[in-house]
Amino acid sequence: EKWPYRHYMQKEIYEQPTAIGETLKELIHPAYRTISIRQNSAGLDLATIEDITIVACGTSWHAGLVAKYWIEQLAHVPVQVDIASEYRYRASPMRKNGLMIVISQSGETADTLAAMRYAKQGGLQVLGVVNVPESSIDREADATLHTYAGPEIGVASTKAFTTQLTALACFALAMAKAKGVLDAKQEQGYVDELLQLPAKVEQVLIHDASLEAIARELMHANGFLFLGRGTCFPIALEGALKLKEISYIHAEGYAAGEMKHGPIALIDEDLPVVVVAPQNSLFDKVVSNVEEVKARGGRVLMITTQGQAAGRIPADYTIPVVPCGEFVAPILYVIPLQMLAYHIAVLKGTDVDQPRNLAKSVTVE
Ligand code: M6R
Repeated sequence: EKWPYRHYMQKEIYEQPTAIGETLKELIHPAYRTISIRQNSAGLDLATIEDITIVACGTSWHAGLVAKYWIEQLAHVPVQVDIASEYRYRASPMRKNGLMIVISQSGETADTLAAMRYAKQGGLQVLGVVNVPESSIDREADATLHTYAGPEIGVASTKAFTTQLTALACFALAMAKAKGVLDAKQEQGYVDELLQLPAKVEQVLIHDASLEAIARELMHANGFLFLGRGTCFPIALEGALKLKEISYIHAEGYAAGEMKHGPIALIDEDLPVVVVAPQNSLFDKVVSNVEEVKARGGRVLMITTQGQAAGRIPADYTIPVVPCGEFVAPILYVIPLQMLAYHIAVLKGTDVDQPRNLAKSVTVE
């Protein structure tokens, strides 16, 4: 039942504090507040893994792209991320001590399942990140990290994505510990950031009415650009996918630094640009990218850290996000993008939960 919400997607957006909290419960030791990922029986030996390949489709692929930044930065293990339907046919060499991480909400996506079987045959160990227990990927993986989003009914993935990110953040920390490159104090710091997430997500959800008002202003655009850097680059891709999927407006996500290599030619007052820009080490670079957009008459919505001097934000609209650590920022910053897409779709009158041409679980190749 979706009551009191109008759509399942809206309900699922609002379930994120709980879904993230439930997922963390399984990955963080309640008393010691340390990472304790309990994989199923196969018990992967993370210390021996030298190379990681992540494979998924759609939103789950975006979760994989964020995980690459985390795992490489924290654990210093090289990660490649592939779209499942590409990986399967690419004859990518499989390393002896390689791990494949397969991310899938449903655990039944045909291409993802096929890529996983192909990798197993080639000798890779497989870790699933799956929301539906006992699904094919859950059963066939050597080990699984479960996400506890609960059933996701809306075709547009929301709470499944933020719980995938939560599980992958914990995995990156576990990997770093296993490699001996994360000390106890650093671990505490990251775990604290994660444990604060449910409360911080609540504080992001309060911007719903502002996002609805902004949606009203921008809903008639024929196209959108989403920009981000670092872990917020995949979040820009995800924002664009959400909008395309449910509002049928063309949207593209770009790494902010790529603007001047082509897409800046598109900028005019009819193409809103949504910038995902937490205040972090990359913030000044993003601001100069946004200034390039403003100088060409673009309309900018900036999702950024609250409490900054207004003069520092060259935007027409701003959504101020509660301050958070750089590590967890992508998990919080995707939420305004989900709400923006949702409101634009509702205002346009599309079928939000069952967008045209799409199925919840893509079981054909
Ligand atoms: O169940 P999966 O995570 O394997 O599904 C993958 C994609 O089909 C899925 O994320 C799709 O892109 C969503 N509709 C996005 O909102």
